[in-house]
Amino acid sequence: MRTRIIHSGAEELTYEIRNIIRVADKLKELGVPVYLENIGDPVAKGEKIPVWMKEIVAELAREDMCYGYCPTQGLFETRKFLVSLNNNNGNCRITPDDIIFFNGLGDAITKTYGFLNRTARVITPSPTYTTHSSSEAAHAGFPPICYPLDPHNHWFPDIEELRRRVKYNPAVAGILLINPDNPTGAVYPVNLIKEIVEIAKEFDLFIIADEIYQNLVFNGNKTVSLGSVIGDVPGISMKGISKEIPWPGSRCGWIEVYNVHRDSEFKSYIQSILNAKMVEVCSTTLPQKALPHILSHPRYQDYLEQRRQRYQRFSKIAYERLRSIPGVLVNPTNGAFYMSIAFEDGVLNHHQTLPIPNGAVRKLVDDITGDPNIQQDKRFVYYLLAATGICVVPLTSFNTRMQGFRLTLLEPDETRFCKMLDKLKEGIEAYIA
Ligand SMILES: Cc1ncc(COP(=O)(O)O)c(C=O)c1O
Repeated sequence: MRTRIIHSGAEELTYEIRNIIRVADKLKELGVPVYLENIGDPVAKGEKIPVWMKEIVAELAREDMCYGYCPTQGLFETRKFLVSLNNNNGNCRITPDDIIFFNGLGDAITKTYGFLNRTARVITPSPTYTTHSSSEAAHAGFPPICYPLDPHNHWFPDIEELRRRVKYNPAVAGILLINPDNPTGAVYPVNLIKEIVEIAKEFDLFIIADEIYQNLVFNGNKTVSLGSVIGDVPGISMKGISKEIPWPGSRCGWIEVYNVHRDSEFKSYIQSILNAKMVEVCSTTLPQKALPHILSHPRYQDYLEQRRQRYQRFSKIAYERLRSIPGVLVNPTNGAFYMSIAFEDGVLNHHQTLPIPNGAVRKLVDDITGDPNIQQDKRFVYYLLAATGICVVPLTSFNTRMQGFRLTLLEPDETRFCKMLDKLKEGIEAYIA
């Protein structure tokens, strides 16, 4: 090309959660039975959508307006409904003008970072859900700037380290937190979120809180929303229906903006995100129309509670099964539907292996893991996949140097889940023996 056409941040765009599927599919072709524990899609894992919910969507599909464009910001009635939920929960008061709909939260995430000034950075947790760290780094054209989550302390953020990194890096304009967290399943206590708000206030930053799992909390925990503690700090809460309803295929998520009028620069930044959406016209109409009907249906709360209880039970089962393995760090999880398991330093090396009886599978894995620079946990994950059929995601693909992997708690069949955990435990023990 006459001129370089590759974006300077292009190499930051990676998504191992889906990459690994290509290998799992190959293994399936070769006859290896596979347990897909890599992707956070409850529907793909076989969760049943209740009939009453399908009836709401089917009824709406009869209305012509659901086939048309909607206002750029989203349907007014739906935004009004969300405002009432937010304001009734004692959150920072917002109006329908403070909400913008997107085609899934993924779209909101890429636009939120994409329209920041290139030199302004948002500090992200490490490990973190990759869509955030990759989109933020791609906008900047540099690797992500992060603060550590501590597996020795329930995977909570190391607040002192966050403060230090904010203080000494004037490029940091915002702080991201994900609560409940993906990939760790941690739920943050109120004091911790207040401390993050304090740091933002002291250094004149804005906050982004990804709260897509806000109602998937268990073990007696409650999610503390950013809106309930933010005071007068500018902030963005990110929400969606992919996990909660769950309807990931609807591609429907939104942002709620707090204290937009308190800072003129923040206000212009939010306006630029809205303008970007306007250039694109609008987001998906049907799910926005369905959202208030589903969330206010008399059976919705019971349905949600049943799901929470199942994740709570599966999270306990996973914790009990895996906690006693020497060399690995396991924390009980309190929200979302993931568990991150970390290997202690020095536990993994390049000589470890697992027996893979099928020659073709063995060759495939040897080829993939032959790269001398491969991360140790990625190597482990591919051997585990080939030897046991269990497909998990290496922790290093979540913007961290920490070695480990992320597992989902989404398998609806308890017997199959337990069988998978037994195989996983055996696989880890044999690999690190
Ligand atoms: C923390 C977090 N935010 C955002 C998303 C993306 O959601 P959506 O399906 O609405 O794009 C996910 C999906 O896994 C997630 O885990």
